[in-house]
Amino acid sequence: ADSRLTHIKDSIRSIPDFPKAGIIFRDVTTLLLDHKAFKDTIDIFVERYKDMKIDVVVGIEARGFIFGPPIALAIGAKFVPQRKPRKLPGPVVSQEYSLEYGTDKIEMHVGAVQPGERCLVVDDLIATGGTLAAGIQLIERVGGEVVECACLIELSDLKGRDKLKGKPIFILVDFEGE
Ligand code: PRP
Ligand code: MG
Repeated sequence: ADSRLTHIKDSIRSIPDFPKAGIIFRDVTTLLLDHKAFKDTIDIFVERYKDMKIDVVVGIEARGFIFGPPIALAIGAKFVPQRKPRKLPGPVVSQEYSLEYGTDKIEMHVGAVQPGERCLVVDDLIATGGTLAAGIQLIERVGGEVVECACLIELSDLKGRDKLKGKPIFILVDFEGE
């Protein structure tokens, strides 16, 4: 076990009944206020990925934009954003995914990921897995190879991993049963 992980978990604030009754929101902004927790988080990802020949770190809007770029810089990879609809100015590929009620969409610039490039997909949290699954699909549709997904937080009660079609996912903190 990594002794840094307890401190990382403790730095994440839990806010009950946000954004609606019955949901406990796991807030990573408090982790960002804690230099040791933020640095250790990035270090752990960099230690894991520095020798895995990752060409591209793909970050999912919004919080994948906080954790993805420092990892990309440290491992010598490119950074590609996957954005909410109508934000990217150039030609895009889009992928719809389901939410609890209704659907949402994410988009990526055509040409940002090249065929055969080895990609790491980064987000802050996996809940139902719909967001990450859509992110993976976008990469695979343009011929990229998803090596792994990396998230700080897993809510494993929600079984989001089952949506990832066997793609490996690396997480730092699980709130199972909490
Ligand atoms: C949250 C979180 C993940 C996603 C996980 O993002 O940051 O991206 O939900 O949920 P899932 O596994 O059930 O798909 P959200 O869509 O709330 O938007 P944001 O990151 O832009 O705030
Ligand atoms: Mg998000």
